[in-house]
Amino acid sequence: PQHYYGDLEYVLIPHGIIVDRTERLAKDIMQDIGDNDIVVLCVLKGGYKFCADLVEHIKNLSRNSERFISMKVDFVRLKSYHGVLLLSNDQSMQDMQIMGADDLSKLTGKNVLIVEDIVGTGRTMKVLLNNIEKYKPKMIKVASLLVKRTSRPDGYRPDYYGFEIPDLFVVGYALDYNEHFRDLNHICVINDHGKAKYRV
Ligand code: PRP
Ligand code: MN
Ligand code: MG
Repeated sequence: PQHYYGDLEYVLIPHGIIVDRTERLAKDIMQDIGDNDIVVLCVLKGGYKFCADLVEHIKNLSRNSERFISMKVDFVRLKSYHGVLLLSNDQSMQDMQIMGADDLSKLTGKNVLIVEDIVGTGRTMKVLLNNIEKYKPKMIKVASLLVKRTSRPDGYRPDYYGFEIPDLFVVGYALDYNEHFRDLNHICVINDHGKAKYRV
């Protein structure tokens, strides 16, 4: 949207490139899952666009190849016990509560594909994986559109990712800065003006 133009430094990944890469990832994922049924677990809020597009690609690919893949979609949100959504740089992530749209015990014995927008410090994914593992799924894979090129202490990398990006604050395609910019199609780098404007 035009009203964001003055708030952005530059476009890092144009929407068309995201679409192409997502289709490629869908192919890779399809190849690996074979004929297994999957539960797609979208991490809200940032994961909603990538997840929706990835599911769409998997569906189209399975239709074209006449391979029927049964897909269920569920959602999780990470929240602190204090009712305050934690920022990803918050140290108190151990206190986090995983809220599923459905009962997460439904993941037991299932092939779970976690879908995220970005892995930064990796803390969110660590907490989530630890929690999901408790439900004893048959398999857990993680697909993240972006991975930040930062030093993650444990060197964590998702099973599938779209792009490795520099350690910059990016917005758009569902990634937010204080809840703004999720409706931007491209992935962009926010500028100082934008940061000041939407600071809380
Ligand atoms: C962002 C992003 C990832 C997480 C990555 O979510 O969507 O979930 O941070 O950061 P990390 O690897 O350093 O833990 P955020 O907490 O901003 O919530 P949101 O998705 O609702 O915007
Ligand atoms: Mn998120
Ligand atoms: Mg966010």
